[in-house]
Amino acid sequence: MTLPTKVKIVEVGPRDGLQNEKSIVPTAVKIELIARLGQAGLKCIEATAFVSPKWVPQMADNAAIMSGIERLPGVAYPVLVPNMKGFEAALQAGATEIAVFAAASEAFSQKNINCSIAESLARFGAVVEEARRNRVKVRGYVSCVLGCPYQGEVAAAAVAEIAQTMLEMGCYEISLGDTIGCGTPGKTRDLIEAVARRVPLKKLAGHFHDTYGMAIANIYASLEAGIAVFDASVAGLGGCPYAAGASGNVATEDVVYLLAGLGIDVGINLEELTATGAWIAEKLGRPSASKVARAMLAKATASGSA
Ligand code: HMG
Ligand code: MG
Repeated sequence: MTLPTKVKIVEVGPRDGLQNEKSIVPTAVKIELIARLGQAGLKCIEATAFVSPKWVPQMADNAAIMSGIERLPGVAYPVLVPNMKGFEAALQAGATEIAVFAAASEAFSQKNINCSIAESLARFGAVVEEARRNRVKVRGYVSCVLGCPYQGEVAAAAVAEIAQTMLEMGCYEISLGDTIGCGTPGKTRDLIEAVARRVPLKKLAGHFHDTYGMAIANIYASLEAGIAVFDASVAGLGGCPYAAGASGNVATEDVVYLLAGLGIDVGINLEELTATGAWIAEKLGRPSASKVARAMLAKATASGSA
């Protein structure tokens, strides 16, 4: 089995990682988190979401985040956008890349963005058109690709169809989201095979939440299936406000460690990343969910260097 030689990580901690936090995280902390992630070597950092502040209060400071961050050369700072109102606000705030998000489950689409899948795709079509006119890059998400918190099973064919529609609409990449982290490596492999019949593998990314502890195994299965882009969240932060019980994304530290062990260098400084994870976990008042980070910090403490 040949694995990809180059892998890209999309850091979603500042958005997916923080959106579900009950207490509002100060804007300055979010800005520092984004700066530290950039310094650690992340090249794509999803910075915030231009969604309704009534639906996700944690992302209400989106414009302040975009004006407060220092944009490092060669680093992309995409933002989540659910509709034209969000796009206009994102553009106004200086976003040069956005992500639109559909679901493969009707029930989840209603709960998350208050419309049907078909309505959401029509909205996104208009947003992508407007983005193209403004030279803004668009990434696409499909949620609930391996299961839905409301309707259970989700057909791979439904995922493939929506992914293809989003690609044809003009999204440069489609991130397949295991929103509730219920997938297993076998199901992941079968899903990728089904989607790859309609969307080229090089246009796909994997977005795994770690609710059942399967995220790293699912990433390995995805690598074997030819996927070379993965979303991850520092310290394993996160969850979706509209997917009760879903835990955080796979920890970026764990993905970097996995890839290093496979001889795949992603240009990220694991020590700096681990320190950033420890820092944000402390700010949030709980331990990092990254096993790699916990092991590295324990080792450093034992050897007296931390
Ligand atoms: P709605 O209530 O149907 O919206 O919500 P509406 O168009 O009827 O507008 C209602 C009010 O919201 C109006 O204000 C609008 O102006 C305002 P009012 O007149 O009542 O004062 N509004 C907005 N305000 C700011 N920014 C906007 C915006 N749009 C409308 N963009 C809506 C529809 C899509 C807005 C809402 O459902 C929403 O914001 N949902 C976002 C939910 C969300 O962020 N979920 C988490 C992200 S998805 C995720 O985590 C999954 C992912 O990680 C992948 C995976 O894991 O699978 C991506
Ligand atoms: Mg997510």
